[in-house]
Amino acid sequence: MKITSLNVNNFKNSEKERIEFKDGINIIFGDNAAGKTNLLEAIFLFAAGKSFRGSKDKNFVRFGQDYAFTEIVFENKSGNCKLGIKLFKNAKKQIFREGVQISKLSEYLGLFRAVIFTPDHLNLVKGSPEFRRRFIDLAICQSFPRYVATASEYNRILAQKNALLKNRIDSEDLLEVYNERLSFLAAHITSNRLKFLKQLQPEAKAFQHDMTNGAEELSLDYISQAGEGFESTDDIKNRYLDIYKSKKEQEKYKGVTLFGPHKDDFTIFINKKNARLFASQGQQRSAVLSLKLAEGELSNKLTGEYPVFLLDDILSELDSKRKKYILDTTYGKQVIITGCDKEFFSGLESRNKIYVENGRACFYT
Ligand SMILES: Nc1ncnc2c1ncn2[C@@H]1O[C@H](COP(=O)(O)OP(=O)(O)OP(=O)(O)O)[C@@H](O)[C@H]1O
Ligand SMILES: [Mg+2]
Repeated sequence: MKITSLNVNNFKNSEKERIEFKDGINIIFGDNAAGKTNLLEAIFLFAAGKSFRGSKDKNFVRFGQDYAFTEIVFENKSGNCKLGIKLFKNAKKQIFREGVQISKLSEYLGLFRAVIFTPDHLNLVKGSPEFRRRFIDLAICQSFPRYVATASEYNRILAQKNALLKNRIDSEDLLEVYNERLSFLAAHITSNRLKFLKQLQPEAKAFQHDMTNGAEELSLDYISQAGEGFESTDDIKNRYLDIYKSKKEQEKYKGVTLFGPHKDDFTIFINKKNARLFASQGQQRSAVLSLKLAEGELSNKLTGEYPVFLLDDILSELDSKRKKYILDTTYGKQVIITGCDKEFFSGLESRNKIYVENGRACFYT
C-alpha cells in the first residue's frame, strides 16, 4: 500500500497544498507548529475516518473558513484509488470515492490503511483505559470496516440511554429496548476486540522478544465488564442482559450507564507482570513499539499488504537501539516521518524531503 499524493484545502493551518509521496522513507520536517502533524492527521483520516488526536471534524476546518477538504491518491493491490473528505464547521462530513459521494464510512474504511506512531502512544501503557480502547478500535475498523457501524450504533444508543437515565425519565419499556440493543452491540464489540487481541498478541510478543534479545515476554489480557471465559457472542449478550437487569437500580441512581465495552480495558504484561505498574520507562517504550509494529504486521496478514507507516516525531523520543529497530522493521515499506530537525534525519535513505512552514510545503532532494 502506498500513498502517492495528498491535497489539502483549508485544512487546519494549510490553505491549499499538494504533496507527493515516494516509495520508502518520506521525511516531513519543519519548526514546531509548522503543520507537520496536521498533514499526518489529514492522511490518517482516510484510514480511520477520524483523528488520531481525538479532534472533532469541525476542528479540521481552517480558522475563519466554512469547510476543509482533503484528498489522497494511493495504490493498493487492486490498483489506484482516490478518496476525498469534505469536513464542515456545522454539518456532517461528506466522503468521496473517485469523485463520487458515498454515504457510509464503512464503504471506504479498509481501502487505505495506515499505522500511526506518536510520542503520545506511551499512554497505551501508562495512560487511562480510553487510550487502549481507542488503539484497538482504530485498528479493528481498518481491517473490519463493518465494526465502525456497530461501534457508532453502540455509542448512539448509549447516549440515548444515558439521556434517559440522567433526566430520570421513568420509562421501563424504553430502558428495556435500549438494554436489549446495547447488549447485542456490546457482545459484537467485545468479541471483535477479543478476536483482534488474540491475533495481535503473538505478533507483539515476537517483536518484544526480538527487540530485547529474548529477555522479555509480552502478553495481553482483555478485561471485560461482562467477565471472562466467554463461550460465544450470544453468551456475552446474555451476560450483559443480566448485568443491566441486576444493576438497573444502581444505573438509575447514578444516572448513567455503568456497564459495557465503553468501560473495558486490556492489560499489557511483560514477563507476566503488569507493564503499567512494574515496567521501566524503556520497557514501556518497547512494549508500545511492539504493539504498533504488531498492528502493521497483523494488517498485512489480514489483507495481504502492509499499511503505510506514519511516524510522528517519534525518532527524537527513542534511543538509538529502538530507533534502529523501528527503521529496520519498516524497511522497504512506505514510511512518512515527521520531525523538527533536518539534521536528525541524516543517515536515513530518503528520496523525498518535504519542508513545512506555516502550513506550506516545499520539496528538497
Ligand atoms: N483549525 C485550524 N485552523 C488553523 N490553524 C490551526 C487549526 N487547528 C490547528 N491549527 C494550528 O496548526 C498549527 C500546526 O500544528 P501541528 O500540530 O501540525 O504542528 P507541528 O508542525 O506538528 O508542530 P510540533 O513540531 O510542535 O509537533 C498549530 O499552530 C495550530 O494552532
Ligand atoms: Mg507535531
